[in-house]
Amino acid sequence: MGLEITFLGHSGFRLSDGTHALVIDPFLSDNPVAAMSAEQIECDYIALTHGHADHFGDTVEIARRTNATVIAAFEICNFLGERGVTRVEPGNHGGRIQTDFGWVAFTQAYHSSSYEGRYMGMPAGLVISMGGHTFYHAGDTDLFSDMQLIGEIYHPDITAVPIGDRFTMGPQLAARACDLIGAATAIPIHYRTFNLLLQDASEFKPRTATVLELNPGDTHRLT
Ligand code: NI
Ligand code: MN
Repeated sequence: MGLEITFLGHSGFRLSDGTHALVIDPFLSDNPVAAMSAEQIECDYIALTHGHADHFGDTVEIARRTNATVIAAFEICNFLGERGVTRVEPGNHGGRIQTDFGWVAFTQAYHSSSYEGRYMGMPAGLVISMGGHTFYHAGDTDLFSDMQLIGEIYHPDITAVPIGDRFTMGPQLAARACDLIGAATAIPIHYRTFNLLLQDASEFKPRTATVLELNPGDTHRLT
């Protein structure tokens, strides 16, 4: 089967096992480094880490057009219902949602979550099982020691961690996060997009994980 991971820019990804496709945090229209437009996205699922605009992005438009099911916090799903998105799978931390490709689990993220001033539930990390692989997207977060527990429980083989500083971990804390998580491969995210964020990944040096820097539009394949 395998897993195909395409970086959309900022914190966004499209994951595919060749049959199903899941998009994470589709922030495209207002994203200066987006790899593609919202109209070009084809997917069966959209999963959101939290409600901030640089993650929620084009969720409503993509969900309406593609009829994709949105996996997100309970509060985000309620909001989506008000916007006419009815195919939703609400969840919360510790919970796992079974899908036709595998599952998505919600983990904690040390951050905040709101949209247009409205509370959007707890921010999350997402662990996704697809195509025989396990991908841990840490969301927007500070470093926390339970990342080690997430590593022990889910054994992700690949992880995406924010390194951009200011709103999330910077590169030194993100490297410590990777040491706790224990995944073989680490993709740096949430940097370069805006002036306020770190502009390069040169200081991101996890001890064991191999750093995989993806440019928006790049695809990495795990067999
Ligand atoms: Ni955020
Ligand atoms: Mn963010």
